[in-house]
Amino acid sequence: MRVIAHRGFAGVAPENTIAAARNAVSLGADTIEFDVVATADGTPVVFHDSRLDDAGESRGLTDASGRVCETDTTTVTSATVLDSGQTVPALADFISAVPAGVGLNVELKNPGRNDLCPGPLKQKHRRARREVWAPFVDRVLDVLAGVDNAVLFSSFYEGSLEAVRDYRPTARVAPLSDDFAAARRMARHLDADAIHPSLSGLRDADATRSLDRPCNVWTVRDWQHAATARRLGADGLITDYPGLLDWPTDSRTS
Ligand code: G3P
Ligand code: MG
Repeated sequence: MRVIAHRGFAGVAPENTIAAARNAVSLGADTIEFDVVATADGTPVVFHDSRLDDAGESRGLTDASGRVCETDTTTVTSATVLDSGQTVPALADFISAVPAGVGLNVELKNPGRNDLCPGPLKQKHRRARREVWAPFVDRVLDVLAGVDNAVLFSSFYEGSLEAVRDYRPTARVAPLSDDFAAARRMARHLDADAIHPSLSGLRDADATRSLDRPCNVWTVRDWQHAATARRLGADGLITDYPGLLDWPTDSRTS
């Protein structure tokens, strides 16, 4: 099974930082998963939440405040993450820390700006048309142009992956969803290269026999999750921790 370091193995390093990327590489991750949003001036940065502080749905990951999409790049990339001494990285700096042999799983988040994407995170925007995503996707693809790493784009937003394919018809894409049926519908519509359901979504769907493309599940946080994912036929673990598959084969309970 492939091991995909969720936010750069967020269980053992400050998530979505360059230190996490380097750590994940040293711990043998096959691929690093990370989240991308945009600053007020449109620079793609690696960050999960919509805000730098703890208002709204955000967790207060940094020592700065405000919405990422309303904050200039210098301020965002100076913000310290989780008292780690690490700062929010620009996408360009983050990918520079990942050698070519390690894959990049670029998760396109909704940057929350009407000129770059559908805007605030609302369910109705999950079906937003591809054209709405084009400016943000264009900026991300610009940064990634010329990288030698294998790149897989994932998103909860179908339109964002359609926009990726509009610009790069051969780009590898994988839809994300908590609902396995929804993920499969998007995967078929996109002729996606992989499908990324949540582990609970895959478990609830009992979808083992209907997996028709590589399946990477999130978010795996312990060995029992890993064993369940294996039993359900997953091909990859998007996981916060390294080493969850490293116990002797004859003692596995799955
Ligand atoms: O890519 C899988 C996973 O990262 C999706 O959820 O919220 O951790 O970005 P989230
Ligand atoms: Mg993610």
